[in-house]
Amino acid sequence: MNKIVIGNLKMNLQSIEERERYLKEFSKELIGKKFQNTEIVLCLPFVHLEGFKKWKNKKVIRGALNVFWEDKGSFTGEISPLMLKNFGCQYVVVGHSERRKYAREEDSDVNLKIIAALRNGIKPILCVGENAGQKARGLNIILEQLKNCLSEVSGGKIENIIICYEPVWAISSNNPDHLPTTNEIMSAGLIIKKFLVGKYGVKISEKVKIIYGGSVSVATVKQACVESGMDGALIGRESLTPREFLKIGEIINQ
Ligand code: 13P
Repeated sequence: MNKIVIGNLKMNLQSIEERERYLKEFSKELIGKKFQNTEIVLCLPFVHLEGFKKWKNKKVIRGALNVFWEDKGSFTGEISPLMLKNFGCQYVVVGHSERRKYAREEDSDVNLKIIAALRNGIKPILCVGENAGQKARGLNIILEQLKNCLSEVSGGKIENIIICYEPVWAISSNNPDHLPTTNEIMSAGLIIKKFLVGKYGVKISEKVKIIYGGSVSVATVKQACVESGMDGALIGRESLTPREFLKIGEIINQ
């Protein structure tokens, strides 16, 4: 499959009942839909992973929203990549701006998480992107984050990473002025590609999916993800509504 659509459920679904309702609705909306070219991934909070694993839906791949960099031991409150694997996860989001902001995660933490996830066969979804104050030097910020977060990541592993350009200022915006233009997203995509080619060569870089995140909806997906040549989307708010999320998936799959 050459495209991917990922739901970031963030800190939502407050109870077992709410999760079950959500998954039931998701199953219903999936009926009759085919995604020949697109992987559909949902990343849920840790507490839902066991229930998520029991939800037998072959069309959806499971993921988590955070991970620690050690495999086991005295790390109170942390969740290891091995645990994620054993709970059915194939993907994990790392480097999200909300974790950088609220949990003070640095590129060096993200780098350790990526290495640990890859070591355990989990595919990291690496988020990079500038915040509002960094807009003028956005492309440099992306390059710096890539350089730091992908340090010591070998060419043999890089194809298992999804890179998401997610400008922080475009997250959860209702304002069309707070969305990057198609050209801006293309430029970010190109700079990511250029970095990958420089570090890993053309052949390997072609296998890495580069996607976009930030206010993706049915209304914005064409401009943000299709016309900009992205390989898919990372979706926050609209992933809470299965019907809308899957409509976005269908547009990307076309
Ligand atoms: P929104 O789709 O709500 O803007 O969230 C984007 C996001 O943070 C996905 O990781």
